[in-house]
Amino acid sequence: MIDIHSHILNNIDDGARDLETSLRMCRVALENGINRIVATPHVRTMDNIDDFIRQRDNKIRILREKLTEENIDVEICSGAEVYVDDDIFFANDLTRLTINSSRYLLIEFAFRNLRLRKIYEYLDEVVRMGLVPIIAHPERYEYFQQDYEAVNSLAKNGVLFQLNAASLASLDGRQEFELAYSMAYSGLATFIGTDAHSLVHRSNNLSQMMRFFPADISKRNLEVMLRDGAAAVLADEAVPHLERKEIRKRSGF
Ligand SMILES: [Fe+2]
Repeated sequence: MIDIHSHILNNIDDGARDLETSLRMCRVALENGINRIVATPHVRTMDNIDDFIRQRDNKIRILREKLTEENIDVEICSGAEVYVDDDIFFANDLTRLTINSSRYLLIEFAFRNLRLRKIYEYLDEVVRMGLVPIIAHPERYEYFQQDYEAVNSLAKNGVLFQLNAASLASLDGRQEFELAYSMAYSGLATFIGTDAHSLVHRSNNLSQMMRFFPADISKRNLEVMLRDGAAAVLADEAVPHLERKEIRKRSGF
């Protein structure tokens, strides 16, 4: 499996606190069948992207060396989780922040108080840069939890979504679970990532978590979300097509 969203690098954001933690997270990943991890540290401001890239690439190099030294067969790829707000309209090209130098950019938004029209403006700006946005953990945003039609609208327009495994294992709360489940079941999400920050905070103990995934999500959807979708991104190819159905908020879920 491939983990497309991980704060595996140490001392660059609120992820792994030291190199030893990064290594232990890699061991846990491998034990859980993850052999490729995209390192996606937070980028919260567009001001110093050069510094960020220098620091990130240095951390990746050190971690890769350690992995080789310790015979841990996990591949680390470069990426970022880019926080998008109005600053994006003044940002330089974000091409250097994409996943594995592909066309795909992992982005996140404010967790509440964001209008759908604004989200479309942000997405248009990313597309204008020649990039394909992937919205990280949509199930965690309050406005999507309250308005499934907004998710349907974005999905209909071809927007790609990444769910957190912990949400699907109902570890992150009821609202998160309900939306994550609806999206996974209905083919609206293309990726599941761990969003691991440490050994305990949304750990990458993925196979353990998968035991708690709802059993009625199709095998094909899971294969795409856990592997084939991310494999296409890493290869900078078109992501596999999933049959999409609209989601509906159910009372008494
Ligand atoms: Fe994250």
